[in-house]
Amino acid sequence: MLIARTIQECVSFRYKINKRVGLVPTMGALHKGHIALIKQSLKICDITIVSIFLNPKQFGASEDLDSYPIDDLRDLKILNKLNIDCVFMPLKSEIYESDHSIDIVENKLSKLLEGDSRPNFFSGVITIVSKLFNICNPSDVFFGEKDAQQLIIIKKLIKDLNYNLICHAIPTVRSENGLALSSRNEYFNESQKEIASNIYKSLCLIKAKIDGGEYNVNVLKKIFSKSIDNIPELQIDYFSIADIHTLEEVSKTISSTVLISTAILLDGVRLIDNIEYVI
Ligand code: PAF
Repeated sequence: MLIARTIQECVSFRYKINKRVGLVPTMGALHKGHIALIKQSLKICDITIVSIFLNPKQFGASEDLDSYPIDDLRDLKILNKLNIDCVFMPLKSEIYESDHSIDIVENKLSKLLEGDSRPNFFSGVITIVSKLFNICNPSDVFFGEKDAQQLIIIKKLIKDLNYNLICHAIPTVRSENGLALSSRNEYFNESQKEIASNIYKSLCLIKAKIDGGEYNVNVLKKIFSKSIDNIPELQIDYFSIADIHTLEEVSKTISSTVLISTAILLDGVRLIDNIEYVI
């Protein structure tokens, strides 16, 4: 496994290869969710590159950039065992040189849901993702459905900026209790993880209600709030039932496929999760 610490090392590695190259962008603190993305790349691509870069641009001033879990040695051991071909671990100073002045902005989808609470988040994400696409020149890229809005916006980035690559959406990996795996779960002890698992349980309750014929979004929103409000440690940032393509809120009743998503605070840590309801 090549550990490319500079852009030049990564570019040189890439340009010697005339095969199907998969890229899995990560911010490190690898877990089984990342491993699922990597395994899919290993399965369908000839070469797999995993990037590890804690991207400062996608963190707001009051967010957890400084405390975000980092363990490069552990991550490298995991990647080595998986037998990937190259890990790209650039320095912040090389990715964002002191005169960096161009960021990419999405003007519609990124203003909704997560974008409402985290105004610069998606610009930060698509700026780094574009840079990684340009440096690694992958034929295939792999992102998790856990970050559903990110996935939708990255697909739009690929379409609008004519990146010639295939984007693979990989299902969310969950703990046995249903909690979606996330690097931020490392902030929690076991009892907090058990509390956090109520987020997915509440999403499943909404799914069961729709299965049972309840299509009224106001009723569904009340059911979700009640379910979360029963657990004093959890605070809802938002709960949304939105059109899967436009991410616009459904106003009255569900009549086509929706993204049901939420952001919840547990002891100051913001957790997101979602389910897609296909109609
Ligand atoms: O999903 C993530 O871990 C990050 O947002 C990504 C896509 C690696 C960009 O920094």
